[in-house]
Amino acid sequence: MNRDLSTSAATSAYAAHVAGLCRRYATAAAAGGFDAIAVGSGLLEYRFQDDQAHHFVACAHFLQWVPLGAHPGSALIFEPGRRPVLVVLQPEDYWHQPPPLPAEEFAREFELRVIRSAGELLSMLPKRRLALLGPESQWEGLGSAAQAAVLNPAVVVNHLHYHRATKSAWELDCMRRAAQRAAPGHRAALHAFREGASEYDILNAFLAGCRQTEPELPYGAIVALNAHGATLHYQHRDREPPARRDIHSLLIDAGCTVNGYASDITRSHAFRDGEFAGMVADLDRLQQQLCAAVRPGVAFPDLHRQTHLAVAGLLRSWGLVRMDPEDMLREQVTFAFLPHGLGHLLGLQVHDVGGHMADESGRALQPPPDFPRLRFLRRLEPGQVVTIEPGIYFIGSLLERLRTSPAGGQVNWERIAGLMKYGGIRIEDDVLVTTGEPENLTRPLLGD
Ligand code: GLY
Ligand code: MN
Ligand code: MN
Repeated sequence: MNRDLSTSAATSAYAAHVAGLCRRYATAAAAGGFDAIAVGSGLLEYRFQDDQAHHFVACAHFLQWVPLGAHPGSALIFEPGRRPVLVVLQPEDYWHQPPPLPAEEFAREFELRVIRSAGELLSMLPKRRLALLGPESQWEGLGSAAQAAVLNPAVVVNHLHYHRATKSAWELDCMRRAAQRAAPGHRAALHAFREGASEYDILNAFLAGCRQTEPELPYGAIVALNAHGATLHYQHRDREPPARRDIHSLLIDAGCTVNGYASDITRSHAFRDGEFAGMVADLDRLQQQLCAAVRPGVAFPDLHRQTHLAVAGLLRSWGLVRMDPEDMLREQVTFAFLPHGLGHLLGLQVHDVGGHMADESGRALQPPPDFPRLRFLRRLEPGQVVTIEPGIYFIGSLLERLRTSPAGGQVNWERIAGLMKYGGIRIEDDVLVTTGEPENLTRPLLGD
């Protein structure tokens, strides 16, 4: 059960958030020539030929209106100039506990209607030019009457996705709380690591520390001991820990949700003092410099390039590569050590939408030719929350390619061989762009 439903949100901030969404939806509806937009929460999806459902994840468009994360078959109906209608499906079900009605501070923003079966939603839909947003299965399940409507029209979706990047005060409150919720989890995970725990037990320490279940997390937590840290999205949880003398490092990338909004936080830890601890400290300093550069007007790909130059400087200062930083970039040496982007938009989705959009029409920004796969290409604007997550990894397949490239002769392979056991380092904070100093949502909570 989503306990956030009963916590008192800053009520006036929530009311202002809904009023802002009404304005945004009115513009989107007008742009698409629609009189109304219905946003579905989605349906429970079942395993193939099975009566067991997958874990339900509510559609982000719906969650943005109201934090009902456990309410399949529900919907929000928006018509410009009218109070939005919130339709909540509360089936009679003695196998499962029906989802609750929204708490008063949320419900008061809507005209609330309760239905007992998913099909009843059909009679609530305005008989006008209607756009339907959300998973197709929910709307297709309503049959032919819903087919007169347009499903997920690009003009509406593009408008909403582009503007999702900029958070309202209420959304920022949720995101600050998502970081606060994750912090005790990270502290508990570090404690378990120091005790010599397995990946499985470190994950459980994280979950207990933040008091979320694994399905409530915004993404599968990454808990990687030793060389596992070289797999960027390592997904397993070894039940047995290595022998104490063979424990070298932990990379933990784990966040929480509050009202559907995510935190996305990575910490890297050395098991003992020595060379790797020094490297973590160096990357941490660089990460904080990059966080300080999160300013309005900065093109994020420029910050990404700056990151590669600084990473090249570290590779040289650590005695791993004997080349000028500019040359390292030109010869793609840094890519072998840092094959992902500096960061991404964060919000209702961990990799939030709209990162490639030039404007609300959906026109795409072109990535720089030397970094063709970045998730975030826009300029920073106040109200955006981005992750800043530089990393340096020892990834066998990429290093093998580097070894046989022209730059391979400039690399100290003996030192690299000694570092493979650490896997890699990533340090990730969530940072709010403001008109002045950036606000780091993570660092004041997890200064280590
Ligand atoms: N946790 C996934 C990422 O950092 O992007
Ligand atoms: Mn991230
Ligand atoms: Mn992450």
